[in-house]
Amino acid sequence: MLTLNLSKLNGFIPEDYLVSRQEKLAQAAQMLADHSGPGGDFTGWVRLPQDYDKEEFSRIQRAAAKIQKQSKVLVVIGIGGSYLGARAVIELLCSPHYNLKQKETPDIFFAGNGLSTDALLELIQLIGDRDFSVNIISKSGTTTEPAVAFRIFKAMLEEKYGKEGAKERIYATTDKARGALKGLADTEGYEEFVVPDDVGGRYSVLTAVGLLPIAVAGVDITQLMGGACQAMEELAVGGLDNLAWQYAAARHALYQAGKKVELLACYEPNFRFFAEWWKQLYGESEGKEGKGLFPASVEFTADLHSMGQYIQQGERLMFETVVKFAPKGEFTIPDDPANVDGLNFLSGKPLAFVAEQAMRGTILAHVDGGVPNVLVELPAISASVVGYLIYFFEYVCGLSGYLLEVNPFDQPGVEAYKKNMFALLGKPGYEDMRAELEAKL
Ligand code: PA5
Repeated sequence: MLTLNLSKLNGFIPEDYLVSRQEKLAQAAQMLADHSGPGGDFTGWVRLPQDYDKEEFSRIQRAAAKIQKQSKVLVVIGIGGSYLGARAVIELLCSPHYNLKQKETPDIFFAGNGLSTDALLELIQLIGDRDFSVNIISKSGTTTEPAVAFRIFKAMLEEKYGKEGAKERIYATTDKARGALKGLADTEGYEEFVVPDDVGGRYSVLTAVGLLPIAVAGVDITQLMGGACQAMEELAVGGLDNLAWQYAAARHALYQAGKKVELLACYEPNFRFFAEWWKQLYGESEGKEGKGLFPASVEFTADLHSMGQYIQQGERLMFETVVKFAPKGEFTIPDDPANVDGLNFLSGKPLAFVAEQAMRGTILAHVDGGVPNVLVELPAISASVVGYLIYFFEYVCGLSGYLLEVNPFDQPGVEAYKKNMFALLGKPGYEDMRAELEAKL
């Protein structure tokens, strides 16, 4: 399903970069398999494509069908790991213009992923008087951004449909036992889906967190899980031929050779949000204890006309990982008898041929400019290909975290802003801290 070309790392990292890490990779793979490494309590995602809750999976499909029948709009409320995966997959498989398309499935809007008043007001206007449902997603059930958004959309639903009617349109995805949202969902009688205890937010796209909104968009989630399952089975076989081992070793060697930024590039505009998901996955997993590659992303060829300059000649601190999908269809460049633009040497050629040469030329230019390149090639974008890629990146991330000797499954740094925000908002219990912060501001 996936091929990995690491030949453009030659000369940037020692030749034995993989063999020299073989033992550590084997240990890392073992820790992921038996949940014995740092953060092992959060490695439920490793076997998830096979060991998921089948009863809940069917319920997700039924709930998606109900939402599709009942509503013209689904508002998905969540932030971070409770948001990015669903949006990434919907945009990659259905298009960033999904809501603009003629379709049988509801429009899907994402809320609760920020605190912008303008964005909220705009969303309320976009929903208008259309029928809508809400999927509130929060593992902790206490995150401020989604909690505030849920207050608003819950009140809107209750005003429009009454309390009983609203109950039929609210789906809560949260912890199976704890948290304010769990308590509220139980009390109000919302349909509930579970964020498994052993799966952290950024690894949760293949749980109900991602699957319900993705299914509402009409994506075949069985195919998505099937692709992930194929990756799981292939990557569980350890050794130097394992593509995840190879990529994780290369990333680690590049980091040790002074490349501090990994730039994820793709030539598909649909990939933009997938890169956002990938950035959270790697940024939160590796960026701690003063260590970690900084995950950044670009969309080519568009960004070759903006960030291209820096990549070619700026600080030599990055390497590039290019994700390349085979095109789904074909488009042939038309002839112009007048050849006004001088482009007739391309007449009759597929646009994909031009894209391919752009990619090859760019890789060579960047490598010449001191930017090592990793090329990941995949078949045309489909649910199973995307499922495979999700698992591939998750698994490489787990291995990479262990190579770096950090816990890839915690995120202690995310708490700092939350504490300050609570104190400044006047949350009970934070009074002393508030005075201290106000004095500093
Ligand atoms: O990866 C993570 O754990 C975070 O990004 C969380 O998903 C995010 O903070 C949202 O948390 P919650 O689902 O508890 O509202």
